[in-house]
Amino acid sequence: MSDRVAAIVPAAGRGERLGGSIPKALRPLAGRSLVQHAVETLILAALVDEVVVAAPAAELDAFTKLLGPGVRVIAGGAERIDSVRAAIAVLDETVGVVLVHDAARPLTPPGLVDAVASAVLAGAPAVIPVLAVNDTIKEVDATGRVVRTVPRDVLRAVQTPQGFRRDILDEAYRLGETLPDGVMITDDAGLVEALGVPVTTVPGSQEAFKVTRPADLVFAEALLARRD
Ligand code: C5P
Repeated sequence: MSDRVAAIVPAAGRGERLGGSIPKALRPLAGRSLVQHAVETLILAALVDEVVVAAPAAELDAFTKLLGPGVRVIAGGAERIDSVRAAIAVLDETVGVVLVHDAARPLTPPGLVDAVASAVLAGAPAVIPVLAVNDTIKEVDATGRVVRTVPRDVLRAVQTPQGFRRDILDEAYRLGETLPDGVMITDDAGLVEALGVPVTTVPGSQEAFKVTRPADLVFAEALLARRD
């Protein structure tokens, strides 16, 4: 396996839960956009050799200008899975390891990126960062009535970057095209699990949280102010 590491950033979402009319990845956070923060993390990571960003098709120029000449910007698709697939398609054959990292996780520490990449370089086919779950989690039916309490000790909240051997991710995305409707795949590792390939975990980071709702931006601003 080649040890060249590429990082893909799906950044083509609209971010409706965050409100506002600009694409989520362009939302400002401490004077820069979310996607600039996310890409900076990847560039600061020692093991990442190249970065590909999947942007909304209408915003290619804006993203290219913001991210500068060292970052490749391509058009994303209708769903996150389409955006990642489009980015995989432009990777050079020499890439042996692919990381997929949400633009919406702007404060992810570079050390977490390197921890995921080095676990794949050391031989794991698929690696995800995870955190223990603090809240009690319950399964409910369509009316909101509780069906059962899920044992919390075996649950993990999953973050990005998720890292993959390149051949495994290619195969997983090929399989993704043939999955029947209704199969719920909410992250890239889910496709790899569907292939039957083992997915392993490394400890995640509280700072790698996903900006989803307006309060997350307030939290992110406060964390950044403390870092400075
Ligand atoms: O909507 P959600 O927060 O789950 O999106 C996760 C990531 O996937 C975000 O970085 C978003 O920009 C990206 N995405 C994408 N293309 C889409 C939808 C979401 O790249 N069509």
